[in-house]
Amino acid sequence: MTNTPHRKILVTSALPYANGAIHLGHLVEYIQTDIWVRFQKRQGHECYYVCADDAHGTPIMLRAQKEGITPETLIARVHTEHQADFADFAIGFDNYYSTHSPENQHFASLIYQGLKSKGHIIRKTIRQAYDPVKQMFLPDRFIRGECPKCGAADQYGDNCEKCGATYSPTDLKNAVSVISGAPPIEKDSEHLFVNLADFEVMLKEWIHSGSLQPEVQRKLNEWFESGLQAWDISRDAPYFGFEIPGESDKYFYVWLDAPIGYIASFRNLCDKQGLDFDEFWYDAKRTELYHFIGKDIVYFHTLFWPAMLNGGGFRSPNAVFVHGFLTVEGHKMSKSRGTFINARTYLNHLNPEYLRYYFAAKLGGSVDDVDLNLEDFLHRVNADLVGKVVNIASRCAGFITKRFDGNLAAQLPNAALYQDFLQQGTSIAQAYETREYHRAVREIMSLADRANQYIDEHKPWVIAKQPNQDAQLQAVCTQGLNLFYVLIGYLSPILPIMAKKVEQFLNISLTWQPVPLLNHSIQPFQPLMQRIEQAQIDAMLADSKENLTKIESSSPALAPIVPIADTISYEDFAKVDLRIAKILNAEHVEGAEKLLRLTLDIGEDKPRTVFAGIKEAYAPEQLINRLTVMVANLAPRKMRFGLSEGMVLAAGPGKNELFLLSPDTGAMPGMKVK
Ligand code: 2FM
Ligand code: ZN
Repeated sequence: MTNTPHRKILVTSALPYANGAIHLGHLVEYIQTDIWVRFQKRQGHECYYVCADDAHGTPIMLRAQKEGITPETLIARVHTEHQADFADFAIGFDNYYSTHSPENQHFASLIYQGLKSKGHIIRKTIRQAYDPVKQMFLPDRFIRGECPKCGAADQYGDNCEKCGATYSPTDLKNAVSVISGAPPIEKDSEHLFVNLADFEVMLKEWIHSGSLQPEVQRKLNEWFESGLQAWDISRDAPYFGFEIPGESDKYFYVWLDAPIGYIASFRNLCDKQGLDFDEFWYDAKRTELYHFIGKDIVYFHTLFWPAMLNGGGFRSPNAVFVHGFLTVEGHKMSKSRGTFINARTYLNHLNPEYLRYYFAAKLGGSVDDVDLNLEDFLHRVNADLVGKVVNIASRCAGFITKRFDGNLAAQLPNAALYQDFLQQGTSIAQAYETREYHRAVREIMSLADRANQYIDEHKPWVIAKQPNQDAQLQAVCTQGLNLFYVLIGYLSPILPIMAKKVEQFLNISLTWQPVPLLNHSIQPFQPLMQRIEQAQIDAMLADSKENLTKIESSSPALAPIVPIADTISYEDFAKVDLRIAKILNAEHVEGAEKLLRLTLDIGEDKPRTVFAGIKEAYAPEQLINRLTVMVANLAPRKMRFGLSEGMVLAAGPGKNELFLLSPDTGAMPGMKVK
């Protein structure tokens, strides 16, 4: 479709949740999408890129409660942070909105009513885990207990991280609510479901008519084979979301109104800019619609979403483009290794276009994961962008400024070479169109090699020293700068900030197939990009570790301000004998409201017994086998329930807000804490 005269395209990226910071994992998708959108715009197409914060759901409601603020305040704050991160990575949304908006409420109701009036909504009573203390139903992720298969402690309600088993939360042994620590009870409630099976024929048609990636097609076929299950779209109060029209105390599940946020964000843009909304959402003949997503949310976008659109009378997407996850140094991003890097932490140390370029150089159109190898990152950016691309301009521009008052020559000495560069544009455009950015980058870099080769062969620095060679010097530098001009046009979807600087430097607007700049005056050359230094990467990693501590202690609900106590001498401190202790057993103490009886191994012949006031914060099962820190030389205290032989250390204001200290992996029971 690359050569179609004028396309009208609407593009989305997945909506990030409004309760967490943007990190480099998110950025794979926003950068991938942004490059595609900028490419389409560069081709002269009418292309809009919309997104929004995904603002509803239980985690956001609970996070706000924890911070002691309303969900509205929380999502407003996060919205500002997200927008700043995106802007600084040059993600050029045409609109960045929120799912907690009147437009979204309107479209969510419209789609629901459409589904309902056509008989696609069914009611079923289901039994779910319920927190009797907090008085709310518990999503699977808010229940923890022992895996029913392998017995591993402290596993989520839906799957075991140890053995990989999947199950329902009611199967967990000794389950507790993560919110209150109370064992959940089971409770019935009536839920609303979309009868997905009604859409099977429509979905199969859509899937086969569209252009889904082969890996995604295969996954969908598996899902069809195992049968389409009805989709639960309601949640009971308390819930942060939209109330379901015609029901009482029932809310739309966050995943119902999240993708509808694509429509709402575009509606909002149309209202601001006077665009034709209907053309994009009802008329698949005149416009195109694409969603970029990660591989974890394919089910929602290829089954639920087209069904919802169909139920609401909207057009179907042309395609859903799926990418893989980000790994850093071959591993999942890890907080303890410092490789869980937030967008802002990166920006504090490194130029956003380094990452845009690196991701582009690694992205193909497949669902494969993308690895950020920091050594490779440094070498690649320095070698390609600084060493090859910027180098072309920096080797030619100085002579033009100093010797020719900023004026380029009247002719290209090698017009055929310039034509070659233009010709390559078709193949590069094809690579962008099909999201094979790694191929686009490869082809652009091989052109950069040819440009450098031209300069190496003609050696302007040598000509400059020879008498009566001015015309030759000006011609060679004009050739070099014109080749650079074409290259930056090709790179502009990936490097929009640098492209802007080049537009100023060359006094032009970039285009895909430019006519050469001849008899044209340019501005003095300014450095376009610095090399990455290893120290910057090191500082970013160190900061990511630090940040983590800051984030964890900055939440007001977790860290009330307690004044620091008076100073003590080192000798006083040295008297306290702190040891790593393993909790061999933890049990309730009859008649004690707050205490648990802990049996602790600190490497002595006999385990110690300690009564700890942590019952409101921990269920005994959560504690068994974990390591903590104890004061081993506290004089034994006789209590009503027995002798307490020490004390374990925990932080927090008390009650259910207590956090037992634990050492890093590798510590052994009995080790002295210094
Ligand atoms: O998985 C997520 O992060 C979701 N917030 C994505 C929503 S995408 C769309 F459906 F809104
Ligand atoms: Zn298990």
